Amino acid sequence: MSNEQPIGFIDSGVGGLTVVKEALRQLPNENIIYLGDTARCPYGPRPAEQVIEFTWQMTNFLLDKKIKMLVIACNTATAVALEEIKEKLPIPVVGVILPGARAAVKATKSQRIGVIGTQGTIKSGAYEKAIRLKTSKSDVFSLACPKFVPIVESNEYRSSVAKKIVAETLLPLKNKQVDTLVLGCTHYPLLRPIIQNVMGNVRLIDSGAETVGEVSMLLDYFDIAHLSDNKKPQRAFYTTGSTRLFDEIANDWLDIEIAAKHIDLGGKN
Ligand code: DGL
Repeated sequence: MSNEQPIGFIDSGVGGLTVVKEALRQLPNENIIYLGDTARCPYGPRPAEQVIEFTWQMTNFLLDKKIKMLVIACNTATAVALEEIKEKLPIPVVGVILPGARAAVKATKSQRIGVIGTQGTIKSGAYEKAIRLKTSKSDVFSLACPKFVPIVESNEYRSSVAKKIVAETLLPLKNKQVDTLVLGCTHYPLLRPIIQNVMGNVRLIDSGAETVGEVSMLLDYFDIAHLSDNKKPQRAFYTTGSTRLFDEIANDWLDIEIAAKHIDLGGKN
């Protein structure tokens, strides 16, 4: 049976669009609703309780839209809120950390894995835990990169300033001889060419893109995929911030015409 209900994606801003990009490729039939809490981005430096509160507000907005599955397309929110939300929701809820950790364990040959993410994600130790539970053989080197998300949100991710900041920030990881580096924040794939250039011959893992493989599998497992028909798939984008900046980044990144709607989640900033 075909299920036409949309899949919901949430992030603190435009980062989750890197997950949507992969979903458009792997799951072209699916109807999609995206919400970016741009007005309160970044989540990275915020206390865990606040990130949990904001994540619930986004989740409730999408539940009203009758989503059939929720993808927490944000590592910072996944690290602190996934378990709680998963437990309380009657629909499947997917986070981005386990798929990223799994892909890193699969990819590494030297057993030296780097992880970059927001302060919140790195402080939570969620990647180390996820990797260690799968293998005790790997060494994990984690680094918070708090300057990366603001560069992406301001649509500066191809600028010379971005190159300078990425090179300076990643310096401490350069001598750790990692062969695999997890982009543990869904904003970072927009900086991927620059990160690759700085890190050289290191395999980059896009946690969000890995997640879509899991989403695809779960749709089949629960028998809730939208099977091919003649209908044009619906895509709706919402932001709590500026629609102009959101559309600029989304159009550039997804290569489709997007007109996001502005919404207010009503909470505090
Ligand atoms: N895109 C997010 C992540 O994956 C959050 C970035 C932020 O708001 O700090 O962690």
